[in-house]
Amino acid sequence: PYPAYQRVRTVDPIHEHPYGFWFVSGYDDVSAILRAAMSVNDRLLEDGLVRQQFDDLDEGDGRVLALTMLDRDPPDHTRLRSLVSKAFTPRKIAELEPEIVTLVDQALDRMAEAGRTDLVETLAFPLPFEVISAMLGMPSTDRDRVRDLSGTLVLSLEAATDAETAKLITAASTELVGLVRQLIERKRAEPGDDLLTALIAAESDGDRLTDDELIAQVVLLYVAGHETTVNLIANGVTALLRHPDQLALLRERPELTANAVEEMLRYDSPVQMSRRITVEPYQVGDRVIPKGAFVLAALGSANHDERYWGADAGEFRIDRENARHHVSFGAGHHHCLGAALARLEGKIAIERLVSRFPRLALAGEPTGNGRSNLRGLASVPISVG
Ligand code: HEM
Repeated sequence: PYPAYQRVRTVDPIHEHPYGFWFVSGYDDVSAILRAAMSVNDRLLEDGLVRQQFDDLDEGDGRVLALTMLDRDPPDHTRLRSLVSKAFTPRKIAELEPEIVTLVDQALDRMAEAGRTDLVETLAFPLPFEVISAMLGMPSTDRDRVRDLSGTLVLSLEAATDAETAKLITAASTELVGLVRQLIERKRAEPGDDLLTALIAAESDGDRLTDDELIAQVVLLYVAGHETTVNLIANGVTALLRHPDQLALLRERPELTANAVEEMLRYDSPVQMSRRITVEPYQVGDRVIPKGAFVLAALGSANHDERYWGADAGEFRIDRENARHHVSFGAGHHHCLGAALARLEGKIAIERLVSRFPRLALAGEPTGNGRSNLRGLASVPISVG
């Protein structure tokens, strides 16, 4: 499904782009870069177009958002991640299972009633969005607004951003930071048994998140919590419906569902790229990437590298033994903190969708969401009866 990646991987796997960034596309090189001693701090970039783009985004509350763990290096990163991990624990995630089952079944009821629906609108988007909104206690009256703001904010993760979009992103960050600030104030006044209360209280050796750090991590969890999982479900179900033999295999062997989710993550990566900045010259293959360079590690390409996966890398096979070796959740110390939650949502959604509707099928051509990094589908027409 990714001919351009295949070409660049074959012709120029460590590609120096004229815009001033490096595009690395092979599995071994991507895996090594994710684990290398590189930075995520855009201020370390030497001058260039990419640096300019980040400067544009850096105004106002963009500064607060630069405090997310995704944008910090150790030791800051280590401290932020360990404080958030105190609240966002594997046990808390496992406890969400009954709620996820209820949300999925409600979505499936709506599908059954309609007969023909858009998978994104009925299930792929609302599931992760409602789960993370509930975890963070976002009032339902603010959710539509948050959905729009988040959709604008994630454009900052795209490879090329023009000045007009940068302005929109800055305005969206300011408004979202404002909403989250109110949310935190309300939660301080009325603590509950939820993730946000736990984040506010999280403490390690007397150390706590400052207000701005707390806001930044909440925005990160919110956005990362749904803008990615929607792609897992929409891309994944689409892949399944386009491969009837694999759908039949899953019906025959439902115990393959967890592995099918891994193969969905590998086959059509919900996040296509991780970014890093070199802090010293970095040797990769026969090339040397200079210090202060912006490096894009192409996760979606690594997931299809024939040298790692073999000749059938381009095939969708839910029983692929090493599917779990994909790099869709990144690797190294920024490895996705929400991977267990995403896997749980994906597994429950796929399992129940497939078992409930024996005649599940695509009812039209899916349309793309127009993004290059969080590449996914804006709509997937399906029929269930
Ligand atoms: C980091 C992918 C779902 C929270 C990451 C990274 C990737 C990723 C690739 C690493 C970025 C880097 O190396 O620069 C995904 C995918 C998901 C998903 C594909 C769904 C299928 C979630 C969910 C949450 C979440 C549900 C939380 C509710 C985070 C956080 C980080 C992160 C907090 C930053 C970790 C750090 O910097 O230490 N994710 N993610 N993600 N993800 Fe996810």
